[in-house]
Amino acid sequence: MPTTVAFHQRYGQWALVTGAASGLGKEFTNQLAARQLNVVAVDIQLDKLQEQVSSLQQQYGVQARALVTDLADPAFLEQVQRETAELEIGLVANVAGLSSVGPLLDVPLETLQRQIAINCYAPLTLSHHFGRLMRDRGRGGIIFFSSASALQGTALVTNYAATKAYNLILAEGLWDELRGSGVDVLGFAPGATNTPGFHHAQPRYTAIPMPYMEAAPTVAEAIAALGRTPSHIAGRGNRAAAFLTTRILPRKQAIKLFGDNMRKLYPHHAQHAPGKHAAPEKLEK
Ligand SMILES: NC(=O)c1ccc[n+]([C@@H]2O[C@H](COP(=O)([O-])OP(=O)(O)OC[C@H]3O[C@@H](n4cnc5c(N)ncnc54)[C@H](OP(=O)(O)O)[C@@H]3O)[C@@H](O)[C@H]2O)c1
Repeated sequence: MPTTVAFHQRYGQWALVTGAASGLGKEFTNQLAARQLNVVAVDIQLDKLQEQVSSLQQQYGVQARALVTDLADPAFLEQVQRETAELEIGLVANVAGLSSVGPLLDVPLETLQRQIAINCYAPLTLSHHFGRLMRDRGRGGIIFFSSASALQGTALVTNYAATKAYNLILAEGLWDELRGSGVDVLGFAPGATNTPGFHHAQPRYTAIPMPYMEAAPTVAEAIAALGRTPSHIAGRGNRAAAFLTTRILPRKQAIKLFGDNMRKLYPHHAQHAPGKHAAPEKLEK
């Protein structure tokens, strides 16, 4: 782990963190401010964001600004460009994400499209804009948030998992393209983590033997992995599970195993909507 001074030299003066009002994004802002980076905190939630910005200023003595925007709005980059024009953004953490739990065909199409906008379009757009500036300066870092669900097709979060696979592959390719440029890129895949976002869909997380992490050690792993590797899975338990599903099990078995666990975790979201497209009563063995 680089010292605070080395970290600041590589990724200062400012970090831009999306999803900064809650969960992993909020914790990211804490840990970056603790390393004396100033923070542009981006989120859609005005009150919580302002609270967090004040807390960063008071606790860590850094400059912090709230940037309230809807990352699903195709015009959001113009606002971000306006509000960061005079700042040197040395680190972008694309943390904001939208998940929804349920069979894909029962989730409204607008929700799925919004997921693609927030989870894929926004990180691509921010990283393209700030990545060019970082490349010109010869230093910086970009973090993309993936998920353990992205390592195989994952029922009940099918579209979400696909958006997270996009982030992982985007990060790894960009890592290679920027190797030697001074700009570090990381695709980071947490497993289940104790955040408001995770609890929103009311998982029965005692129903399966699932590694379950807190936000602080998860974010610490991401920061430690940046500059060391193209992608990283948080937590030993999640890495062991990933080894099983990606290296040992046949792909079909891995997909079914994840899907079965999801149905145990979210039995209240697992039923197909009734009607002429209702689910078959038995799943294929
Ligand atoms: N927690 C987990 O178990 C877990 C596991 C794997 C990966 N991840 C990934 O980690 C990241 C953070 O997850 P989290 O659990 O910390 O989420 P969280 O607690 O829900 O926080 C996400 C924040 O992003 C904000 N946001 C959502 N849509 C936005 C938009 N259109 N524009 C601006 N801000 C928006 C949310 O606001 P609202 O609350 O108003 O939506 C919320 O403040 C996500 O990318 C997620 O996919 C999480």
